[in-house]
Amino acid sequence: MSKTSKNNNIKWRKVANDVFLTPLPVVLKAIEMSNITPDMTVLDPCKGTGNFYNNLPPCKKDWAEITEGKDFFDFKERVNLIIGNPPFSIWNKWLEHTISITDKFCYIMGQQNLTDRRLHFLHANGWGLTKMYLLQVDFWFGRTYICLFEKGKESIIGVADKPIVCDICNTKCERGRKGNSVNECSKNK
Ligand SMILES: C[S@@+](CC[C@H](N)C(=O)[O-])C[C@H]1O[C@@H](n2cnc3c(N)ncnc32)[C@H](O)[C@@H]1O
Repeated sequence: MSKTSKNNNIKWRKVANDVFLTPLPVVLKAIEMSNITPDMTVLDPCKGTGNFYNNLPPCKKDWAEITEGKDFFDFKERVNLIIGNPPFSIWNKWLEHTISITDKFCYIMGQQNLTDRRLHFLHANGWGLTKMYLLQVDFWFGRTYICLFEKGKESIIGVADKPIVCDICNTKCERGRKGNSVNECSKNK
């Protein structure tokens, strides 16, 4: 493995952390996708150094940031939009709190964080993914999306309701694993 790919691989990082500052082009694209108007109340839930908060167009804005003593989970007022790049280690809890205080949010989500379970959870609660933009940030791990979710809107993404298993034995056999071919049932060798 090359030095570069080692550095980009979360498993190789010496200290687990989820403080990633968002590059300005990503921030500006997320803001553009969110259609912010001056009458809107907008929350940056994890301000960091302020990359989102400081670049918001005129609106009624507020912020939270744990390292400055303002915990997002203590923020209970309703807002029109939540926009930012949340800490990836607590996505489920973060999404649950998000949907309890807004009807619209725009988050930066790693490919590995936009899971079927999370989409099922949001769809089941009446949320739709209404805009999505695929990013390539050279120095971030994997691919990343900007995702806009809105309550009560139709989702542009469908999600399979269960995994597709081997169509020969109709179970989760070892097909495609442990050296078995992806094209044959592991039980019928
Ligand atoms: C991925 S960084 C994003 C920083 C900044 N918003 C940006 O995009 O450049 C995540 C941020 O979430 C903050 N954070 C973690 N837990 C938090 C919480 N419970 N409430 C508020 N902020 C939190 C971290 O301190 C960190 O600044």
